[in-house]
Parts: sequence; structure tokens; C-alpha cells
Amino acid sequence: MDKLLITGGAALRGQVPASGSKNAALPILAATLLADAPVTLGNIPHLRDITTTLELLGRMGACLTLQDDMGVEVQPRPLKSFAAPYELVKTMRASILVLGPLLARYGRADVSLPGGCAIGARPVNLHIQGLRAMGAEIGVEAGYIRARAQRLRGARLVMDTVSVTGTENLLMAATLAEGETLIENAAREPEVVDLADFLSALGARIEGAGTDRIHVQGVDGLGGASYRVMPDRIETGTFLVAAAMTGGRVTVRQTRADCLDAVIHKLREAGAEIDVDANSITLDMQGRRPRAVDIHTAPYPAFPTDMQAQFCALNCIAEGVGTLTETIFENRFMHVPELQRMGADIRIEGNVAICRGVERLTAAPVMATDLRASAGLVLAGLAASGDTLVDRVYHLDRGYDSIEEKLAALGAGIRRIPGRSGSLTTTP
Ligand code: UD1
Repeated sequence: MDKLLITGGAALRGQVPASGSKNAALPILAATLLADAPVTLGNIPHLRDITTTLELLGRMGACLTLQDDMGVEVQPRPLKSFAAPYELVKTMRASILVLGPLLARYGRADVSLPGGCAIGARPVNLHIQGLRAMGAEIGVEAGYIRARAQRLRGARLVMDTVSVTGTENLLMAATLAEGETLIENAAREPEVVDLADFLSALGARIEGAGTDRIHVQGVDGLGGASYRVMPDRIETGTFLVAAAMTGGRVTVRQTRADCLDAVIHKLREAGAEIDVDANSITLDMQGRRPRAVDIHTAPYPAFPTDMQAQFCALNCIAEGVGTLTETIFENRFMHVPELQRMGADIRIEGNVAICRGVERLTAAPVMATDLRASAGLVLAGLAASGDTLVDRVYHLDRGYDSIEEKLAALGAGIRRIPGRSGSLTTTP
């Protein structure tokens, strides 16, 4: 298993491009199953989760061609399999995203249940309930969701909890259903909007994406399109926190500030000067130590749970006491014991982590436990004194495109130490 060796202390400076969004690219790739004509996608990030999705689609019989410059071309052709096997689903829970498209287009899907994962139980009941309400017959047998349907019927779907991939699965299914579907209490995440924009480019009739009520008027078929995936707001936010923690000045290019309001607000509260441009964000910390901030994670447009570990790292070295309240996932503080090994002063009470900033963290060997927790550990390493060795970097590779190259280009002391390949576990 690869490790990252990080020599902390350098203030990050320079410009870095954001990659395409993982959480937008995954549903969009799944949605290509709905298309009857060729689809060309641009700005696909180079990540392990994307490779897993391409493998999943390829095994089903989809015809995929990788292009230079992060493009993927998908040619429509009949599938030979309608299954997402356990061996792939266990490494990437987002494989559940093929359920809606397979059922809507082919009337059948056998998708392995994702099971538990490191950050919590993460059920898929909302996906199943919604598809049942649209007329699908769904059973669970031998660890697989076995779903069958004639043509799905439009329905009014009220989601108990705001679920991002749940909304996306039902949105994709509704595009080819007969009649109108209304998804209430829908997720408002920008990635849902990106998926809706892609589906609309294919010919879907969708209104209200980005609000909590999405209307879909089902159509008989979807065509093809060329589409560019939105930038990754979590990767962007991670680079901004890295600059803030090291007292540096970093511009993230090819990104979008409009979907980072909550994060930018907290960084300003921490003392950062931030300038926003049409497609770039510049953070200048002018060598100052950040101030601790209070964070409360909640569905978009509130503060994203996927940035909680990074702000935990920031609070570790900030001036004052900050609290992090995690309301989305029940076990998302696994970075805390590792940060404590680096000298962080953090106390956990239920779903709240209370962090008293210390002047400096000290380097230690630490273990990545899930995707965003690993990002928090890398950031801690950048601000610590000494050499931090982050183990199990495969978690990071699921969601960060060339992270060590991008950070090194900003002046960070970071390098990958290759190891033997190891087993994978599921994270967001
Ligand atoms: C997505 C993101 C992940 C992010 C999360 C929350 C992708 C590929 N992943 O994950 O990075 O951390 O949103 O912003 O986009 N829930 C249920 N029943 C369900 C589905 C969800 O109870 O059927 C609960 C979950 O346990 C959780 C909450 O709803 O407490 C939100 O989860 P959800 O939005 O579904 O997360 P994901 O879509 O898996």
C-alpha cells in the first residue's frame, strides 16, 4: 500500500487547477446507461472511483473509450449484464447509482447491497422506496437488490431524509418513466444540478434541480450529448484549507466559488482574505495563524460533511477553541484519534468534536481511514513540524486527483512512497 511522506512547515504558494468533480462524474457516468446516442464527457477526474465505475459499466457491456485530456466517450449498445457485483460495490458505495438507470432503461437490475462502511451505516432504503413507488418490484436476496419493472410510472416521492445519491437515482429513473414525477425534500447539492443539466442535454425534461422539489416529465427515450463535468468543490476547499493552515497564498483555478459559500464564509471567519473571480478563488493568509471556527455540517447549501475533517485539522492548529458538529454521518470522526497522535487537543462528545488549537502539531505515522479523513491528515502533516507518514493512501486516491503532485507544485514537502497493493474498503 502506498504511503505519503509529508515534511511539514512550508507555506503553500502558487496556483493549482481543480479537477472535475468526483461526486458529479459518478452519477453522470451512470446516467450514460440511459442514452440512445453517443455521449462525450469532459473534465472527468483521474481517480480510483472513476476507474471502478468505468470497470463496472464496461463489465455490463457498455462501450467506453478514454480520450486524452480527461474525456470519456460512451457509445450506446445493448448491455449483456445488468449486475453490479459485490466485489466492485464494496470498494465504492456509489455503484448503487446504476440501479435507477438500469431499471428505467432495461427494466432490471441486480445491485449488491453496499453494506456498512467506515463512516456509518449508510442505508439505501430511500432509493428502494422511491423506485417501488414508481412501480418497481424490489427484493433483497443473497445480499443483492433484485429490481424488476415494466416501464416505471411517475409518482410523488417524498424523501424522509435528504439523500444525495438517493435523489440522483430517482431523478435518473424518472427521466424515462411514464408521466410526471415529483421528488420532494430532494438534495440541493450542485452535483445534483450537474446531473440534471447533463440529463437535460440528453433530452430529459427536468425542472427545479437545485431546489428541494424536482419535477420530471418522463420521455420515451434520451439521445446523446457532449458535456463537461463541473469542478470539484471539495478538492477546491481542501486546497484552500491547506493554504490557510500553512499561512500561505494559493489560487485555485478552473473552479466555481458559487458552490462554496459556506466553506468560504468559514475560511474568512478563520482570518483568511479571499478573492473570488469568475472561475478562480484566491486565499491569502499572510503568514497568520488561523482562528478556530465552529462548524455544523448539514445538506447543501449548509456546510458540507465532506469538508469537516479538513476543518478539524485547521482547528487543531488554530487560535482558540472550535466545535465541529457532525449531523450527516454517525461515525465521521475517525481522523480524530490520528490527529491526537500528532498532538491535537480534541475531545469528542457524541456528534461534537471540541478542539483547542495548539501552536504546532508534531509529525507522527498516521493511518488514513476514509477518503475525507485522509485529507484531514494530509493537511495536518503539511502544518506539523517534522515528517508525517500517512498510511493507506488508497483512500485518498479514490477522491483526489494527483494530490501529491498538486501540493508539491504549491511548495509542499510531499512525496509518495509506493508499496504493495492492498485490499480496499468502502467510504463516501
Ligand atoms: C453523498 C456523497 C458523499 C457525501 C454525502 C453527504 C456521492 C457519491 N457521495 O453520499 O461524498 O458525504 O452525499 O453529503 O455523491 N440515508 C438514509 N437512507 C438512504 C440514503 C441515505 O437514511 O436511503 C442517510 C444516510 O445514512 C446519511 C444521510 O442520509 O445519514 C445522507 O446520506 P446521502 O446524502 O445519501 O449520502 P450519499 O449519497 O451516500
